[in-house]
Amino acid sequence: MTQSIKQGDWHPASWQTRQASQQPIYRDQARLEDAIAQLSRLPPLVTSWEIEALKEHLAAAQRGEAFLLQGGDCAESFADCSSDVIVQKLKILLQMSLVLVMGLRKPVIRVGRMAGQYAKPRSADMETKDGVTLPSYRGDLVNRMPFTTEDREPDPALMLRGYERASLTLNFVRSLVDGGFADLHHPENWDLKFVGDSPMAEEYHRMVQSVSDSLEFFESVTGDAMHTHRVDFYSSHEGLHLPYEQAQTRFLPHRKRWYDLTTHYPWIGMRTIELEGAHIEFFRGISNPIGVKIGTGVGDEQLQALIHALNPQNEPGRLTLITRFGAKHIDEHLPRVIRTVRATGSRVLWICDPMHGNTESTAEGYKTRRFDNILTELKSAFRIHKEAGSYLGGVHLELTGDNVTECVGGAMGLTEADLASAYKTQVDPRLNYDQAMEIAMLIAGHVRANG
Ligand code: PEP
Ligand code: CO
Repeated sequence: MTQSIKQGDWHPASWQTRQASQQPIYRDQARLEDAIAQLSRLPPLVTSWEIEALKEHLAAAQRGEAFLLQGGDCAESFADCSSDVIVQKLKILLQMSLVLVMGLRKPVIRVGRMAGQYAKPRSADMETKDGVTLPSYRGDLVNRMPFTTEDREPDPALMLRGYERASLTLNFVRSLVDGGFADLHHPENWDLKFVGDSPMAEEYHRMVQSVSDSLEFFESVTGDAMHTHRVDFYSSHEGLHLPYEQAQTRFLPHRKRWYDLTTHYPWIGMRTIELEGAHIEFFRGISNPIGVKIGTGVGDEQLQALIHALNPQNEPGRLTLITRFGAKHIDEHLPRVIRTVRATGSRVLWICDPMHGNTESTAEGYKTRRFDNILTELKSAFRIHKEAGSYLGGVHLELTGDNVTECVGGAMGLTEADLASAYKTQVDPRLNYDQAMEIAMLIAGHVRANG
């Protein structure tokens, strides 16, 4: 049993003794070993100081004192590692966090699905088109999207390219947030070209004005400048591709603990939560705060065993449960799951992913999500936690700062017929700029009205 394994038996490659789902088959083991060896020598992407600071913020969110905003692409692509795309994503997350801070009157922890969200779980290992069968595309970290034998062959060198892209992304984001881009004194930095046309623009600018007025008032009364120059911004991705995570996992003697240094806050996807599986084995040994996706298929005993395996010391900030049941199923499952976790006596941070239980296909074959279902699941999550005396401490969203047409509905009234005009996602449909801002405003309004 997982529970009986002592921490002492763990090492970054001990997952290899377990059944590892959702992993590609590399033909050339020597090239794979070489890529892992190179990655293990390269400097880490994040540090344990940042990771521990985030864990403290998440512990505050567990106590109801903060709120987590986690968002970004379903799958990042190497081609999108460009200044525009990164800045747009940062801008929308900063704007949303300002709206949430105003509405919730609590600190907001900002986490991007960024700088490493390059590996995707797939429902089938192989894909067949016109009689040709090739390995499924598993994300840019593993193989390439075009349907050719060469592109679909898993290539270990792509892990190095992914590490480099993640590092370029983090470097740029850090420079921006440390350098003053995120300064509350200058929210005009985060304006996007098309904000003026948005139905949200007026309310957003009213909020910005109110922040500016408050800052000005405080500064004139106290005679001190408010230090709003920099903000914290953290990275996260699904810790799916275990060779990549393993290679950047280090024992830090000053902390006497292991850390996965590819990202601050990795999560375990819904398809890889088997108790005896490789992912649980890997995650139990690292000291990062971690998320676990919880869908309708997770039973009570499995959930309790997962919590025991992943957070045996009940460490504050360590464990986040990301529920993703779908608008139709949340009422049936969330109350049960809250009771089950409460019975363990463990602290967790509850957050709601209203995206992944609400995916559907249109008659034309577009994968989409309805804004109404996303909002319904979110509102239900707030209500059910409140009724249970629990706290919904955050949201996990797939979104972009871009003007895409991937999810239907929202104030702009996007219809199925509009999807073709700017459908760009590599995998799942994302909220566009307007829809993401609208969700932030609706959350803020909902919490203000319902407490
Ligand atoms: C995802 O977050 O992109 C994802 C695949 O989610 P889940 O594991 O919840 O299906
Ligand atoms: Co997704």
